[in-house]
Amino acid sequence: MLKLETVQEARDFVYQHRAAGRTVGLVPTMGALHDGHLALVNESTRQCDITVATIFVNPTQFAEGEDLDVYPRTLQSDCEALQALAVDAVFMPSSSEMYPDGFSTFISPPQVARRWEGEFRPTFFRGVTTVVIKLFNALPATHAFFGRKDYQQLQVIRAMVRDLNVGITVVPCDTVRESDGLALSSRNRYLDNGQRSRALLLCKALQTVTDAVSRGETDTDRLQRQMHDVLLGSQDASRHPGGVDKIDYAVIVDPQTLEPVSRVDRDVVALIACHVGTTRLIDNRLISAVEPTSAE
Ligand code: PAJ
Repeated sequence: MLKLETVQEARDFVYQHRAAGRTVGLVPTMGALHDGHLALVNESTRQCDITVATIFVNPTQFAEGEDLDVYPRTLQSDCEALQALAVDAVFMPSSSEMYPDGFSTFISPPQVARRWEGEFRPTFFRGVTTVVIKLFNALPATHAFFGRKDYQQLQVIRAMVRDLNVGITVVPCDTVRESDGLALSSRNRYLDNGQRSRALLLCKALQTVTDAVSRGETDTDRLQRQMHDVLLGSQDASRHPGGVDKIDYAVIVDPQTLEPVSRVDRDVVALIACHVGTTRLIDNRLISAVEPTSAE
């Protein structure tokens, strides 16, 4: 596995394979790799001739007071994991390689970035879109793999690719979970045992509303209330004492625009962001509308 550190090396590597007619899959990450990241890598090696992963903890997507300084960095084991999956190259630039002195150009994120994460982390998507377009330019791949775990991020990147005529196919990949339902996240390692069991309330809330919709509930207000009840631990208090510490949002929205919907009369997505202790967790679930049964 080649280790690429400069934009020039990265570009030369991709051009060489593109010139030979090969497809190149790009898997952008911030490292601290887990099986969710590795599922993206596996999808890339399945679909593309060549796979390049990137590891870069991108400072521009962290706001003041967020976890940039303590974000887990496990470079050696990350490289071992990528090597074991037969990844062809990993791009690990320094901060100064990505943001040289005088750097001042940023992407203005698309409309779909406005709500939810965009409200609670106002500079987040500007940092994400800027670094992702920089990675696309440094590594002009044919395909790029992103997880549905960060559902709004995926939709933001799709919109940017469409709006800016980027010649890359964005491939969405399903969320990988622990056996008890907790979505894998590099930030899960911040959780102690008690917090980890409260973190399970996110997938429990998503399951509760999925079940309610399949039983015929279509009223979004009621569904959102149910999510809040589960998250705050007001149901099943013996198994999850206390609930989460703060809910940023727990909403049911249109899967494309991420605008609120009032009824589940078509497919929707439930989005949740919560704090457990000092850790901020997100999760989501696509929910299919139930076909109305005709009156007999
Ligand atoms: P990071 O959080 O490291 O995630 C890298 C990729 O892995 C993203 O596409 C994310 O959606 C995906 N991913 C994370 N957890 C997953 C899970 N449990 N199942 C499936 N996929 C999962 O997202 C970022 O980094 C950054 O914002 C980045 C796009 C790299 C830009 O800096």
